[in-house]
Amino acid sequence: MNIVIINGPNLNLLGHREPDIYGKRTFEEYLDELRVAYPQHNIEYAQSNCEGTIIDLLHRYGFSADAIVLNAAAYTHTSIAIADAIRAIDTPVIEVHISNIYAREPYRRQSMIAEACRGSIAGFGLDSYRLAIESIATNKK
Ligand code: DQA
Repeated sequence: MNIVIINGPNLNLLGHREPDIYGKRTFEEYLDELRVAYPQHNIEYAQSNCEGTIIDLLHRYGFSADAIVLNAAAYTHTSIAIADAIRAIDTPVIEVHISNIYAREPYRRQSMIAEACRGSIAGFGLDSYRLAIESIATNKK
């Protein structure tokens, strides 16, 4: 399957950014491991710090990819525009978070995009991405 992982703002600094919350590994290191674990899938990766670019990526991949794994980062809590983009495309989107957003500050406990997504996975560290890929393979519609 063609799976696209899209990471939002500040996730380019994984490994360095608040390691107590987000861990000490870069996403690129983790991605290499994911690709080795899932040779049967083509896993593409994109990251942007800009809301509009994330929307453009959803439009670009949202009519051809089999699934999109999206960590919208802080835009999760604010972006009706990203939620609308998810509703506008054909490809199912799985929301992921490294941290458990429901166990953090009150402003992180609301996801504007969850309703538009196929499902949400949060709180398992980088393993949240693997769990999303597992769910795609087993819940194929
Ligand atoms: C995050 C949680 C968000 O609240 C935060 O703004 C992030 C990362 C996570 O993966 O845990 O940047 O999406």
